[in-house]
Amino acid sequence: MSLFRKKSISAMSAEAGHDGHGHSLNKVLSVRDLTFFGIAAILGAGSFSSLGFAVFNGGPGVVALFIITAIACGFTALCYSEFASRIPVAGSAYTYAYASFGELFAWIIGWALIMEYSIGNIYVAFSWSDYFTSLLGKMNVHIPAYFSTSYMEAKHAVEAGSTNADELAAWNNAPIVGGIRMIIDIPALLINFLITYLVYRGIKESRNFSNIMVVLKLAVVALIILVGGYLIFSNGLTSNWMPANDAGVKSFMPNGFGGVMMAVSSVFFAYIGFDAVSVLAEESKNPQRDLPRGMILSLVICTIIYILLTLVLTGAVNYRNFDGVGDPLAFIFEPQNLNIGWMQFVVAVVAVIAMTSVLLVFQMGQPRMWMTMSRDGLMPPVFQNIHPKFKTPSFATIVTGLVVGIPIIFTDKTFVLDFTSIATLFAFVLVCGGVLLIPRKEKVAGRFHLPYINGQFLFPAVVLASMFVAYKLSATYFSDLFVFDYSANQEYIAGKKSFMDLALPNISLIIFWAGALLLSGLTMVKKYSFIPLMGVFTCMYLLTGMSKSNWVWFIGWLALGIIFYFMYGYKNSKLAQQAA
Ligand code: ALA
Repeated sequence: MSLFRKKSISAMSAEAGHDGHGHSLNKVLSVRDLTFFGIAAILGAGSFSSLGFAVFNGGPGVVALFIITAIACGFTALCYSEFASRIPVAGSAYTYAYASFGELFAWIIGWALIMEYSIGNIYVAFSWSDYFTSLLGKMNVHIPAYFSTSYMEAKHAVEAGSTNADELAAWNNAPIVGGIRMIIDIPALLINFLITYLVYRGIKESRNFSNIMVVLKLAVVALIILVGGYLIFSNGLTSNWMPANDAGVKSFMPNGFGGVMMAVSSVFFAYIGFDAVSVLAEESKNPQRDLPRGMILSLVICTIIYILLTLVLTGAVNYRNFDGVGDPLAFIFEPQNLNIGWMQFVVAVVAVIAMTSVLLVFQMGQPRMWMTMSRDGLMPPVFQNIHPKFKTPSFATIVTGLVVGIPIIFTDKTFVLDFTSIATLFAFVLVCGGVLLIPRKEKVAGRFHLPYINGQFLFPAVVLASMFVAYKLSATYFSDLFVFDYSANQEYIAGKKSFMDLALPNISLIIFWAGALLLSGLTMVKKYSFIPLMGVFTCMYLLTGMSKSNWVWFIGWLALGIIFYFMYGYKNSKLAQQAA
């Protein structure tokens, strides 16, 4: 059973927060600090950038998806909190998994979290570049589109017949060297370099500094909501909330619920970060009580903000105009829209600051996670190297910089967004599933305690009720899942289309419903706890919104991780060596 060997909680607590010289971290952070840190990590490219993509697909109805996703994240935050209160060491899902399910799961979660931390930052860097370029533009400094767009984004825009002027200009005007169009997002590369340098030099995450950034972010978001909201009503734009679709039908969800679900990656991405609060366990005054509060509070605040921002965006401008718009919050104030010059400027400045804070949180988190994994023997020892002068994990920091930087040249926003969201959701499912498996414990006064609600009948009832609602909304909902459309696949059969274009039955929804029924059956026997069950159920539902190509990429990534584990971690793990 050595694949499932576990680290003991007491050994972890003994190691935690000490540097080997008897010094430990300062326990200074309060609920307010933790909440601010949560907002620093959460509020960034999701709201300032990918929201544009989300509303382009789903229209105003994306609000519904923000609520569903907030519920899924809320259940997950409670599960994270349960772990954090049992294992109050600086960690992440990786650490919790190591203590509860053993090494292989811990490794898989750590491997998936590389997507959340590093690959997610690629998206944030691209978005940073969008706002930075538009800010420079307002100051009459113009970077050519081909030096501020990614190659893949321009290529896809041309292939998909997009009307986005910048992306088309990037493709059409790029210099061609050796037959290749020189299209590269230079500001994205630059900000990654700068952040890596700062983290390498050991920028102190000063509490006051990040608190000021958060206050600034919140203030400008409030300003957008107030000014935008006021203009929607005074300019009589409220009809934008019921836009007409291609068939001329007016609806809050112009592309139906299917259109809303296309925005899953963007919407989920916007919430990523609340889990990062758990890395501050050793620096908070009362982690067992305050971490859960910090996570939930930051989630609630951000949910309210997202709902209001979505309404302002889709009220100010018809949802169709957001095609390829990377800076939607500034876009609504452009001359052809609400036309407020100073707002465009203020929003762009604060967006650049907001996204810098997100970049910092994750770019500091990744090397520290690798350092922990390396201490456990699952990554090569060089990942523990500490810079003699700057006292930072120097090698791991540089590798993070490369893992973020190199793909900036070869990928585009959509790809990294989808990849990040699918891997993070996958890790969340494991965290919630994990809470189902750990033994129940007595409540200790002053500590967070996940209330046990017997799911024996409640959970099956929720699953059956959801199936009933789906059926009532569309009588062919379930039979449609199994349709294999032969005529649509004639071109594939004739070899004219690739596998990715093949129209298959809806495999992910079939697995989802079958899994939910299976879990209901198990719960009836094992009386699982309701809250983590709902975490698994809702996160799995969000996973069904991911496209086939995401799944193919993600499964490939997991396979690579498992191969790496067997070639390296399995033999070199500390636990393996202690046992030998
Ligand atoms: N939620 C973070 C953002 O939107 C990752 O930038």
